[in-house]
Amino acid sequence: MRKILVAAMFSAAFSLCRAQDIKLLQPDTQGGKTLMKAFWDRKSDREYSEKTLTDKDLSNLVWAATGINRKDSGKRTNPTAMNLQEIMLYVFNDKAVYLYDAKKHTLVKKADGDHRNLIAGRQDFASKAPVSLLMVVDMSKYMDDDEHARLMGAVDAGIVSQNINLYCAANNLCTVPRGTMDQNGIRKLLGLTELQIPLINNPVGYPK
Ligand SMILES: Cc1cc2nc3c(=O)[nH]c(=O)nc-3n(C[C@H](O)[C@H](O)[C@H](O)COP(=O)(O)O)c2cc1C
Repeated sequence: MRKILVAAMFSAAFSLCRAQDIKLLQPDTQGGKTLMKAFWDRKSDREYSEKTLTDKDLSNLVWAATGINRKDSGKRTNPTAMNLQEIMLYVFNDKAVYLYDAKKHTLVKKADGDHRNLIAGRQDFASKAPVSLLMVVDMSKYMDDDEHARLMGAVDAGIVSQNINLYCAANNLCTVPRGTMDQNGIRKLLGLTELQIPLINNPVGYPK
């Protein structure tokens, strides 16, 4: 009886662990197509297999989007204006919503449940992708929240999105950059401030 109780406790602790943050795998240093081939193959896809992304693909994808590629300076795969690193990357799947912590290369859970419908907005196809990446611009990192700063924030979000587009093209994943989403629903769910703007998202999945 005692053995069963101990086993049950271990099992409960393990599932609790799994339900929390996700420590991502070390990103690959090789693999994928050549950059030129990825440019040839890049395109918007709006149909996805419902198959869950492998841990390896998810880890590489998130790192390619905005991971640290220089440990000494903490700089990223994506350049940002004045190195402000103001793009917050959220990951939505069928279980939860996570915020990417680049220093720890970890997805930190921010909300329970399947909220991919908020990413989809009025485009239903997007809620079928197993995972969606959302770029939120944190304008509080800028000295002034003026028009030029807003444009720079938008450029920086677009660069992260293009990293995702190219990673997908190079690794036979499907994606589309999208401005469509339920902005208010996302703001509410994630508790974003006025200066944190959900700007663009990329649903990602394997070909159907
Ligand atoms: C900033 C931006 C916003 C976009 N928003 C949407 C969108 O909300 N929904 C959608 O289905 N496609 C969206 N797209 C994808 C474009 O429709 C697509 O890139 C364009 O039709 C060209 O097709 P291609 O990507 O296959 O070359 C967006 C693209 C960009 C760059």
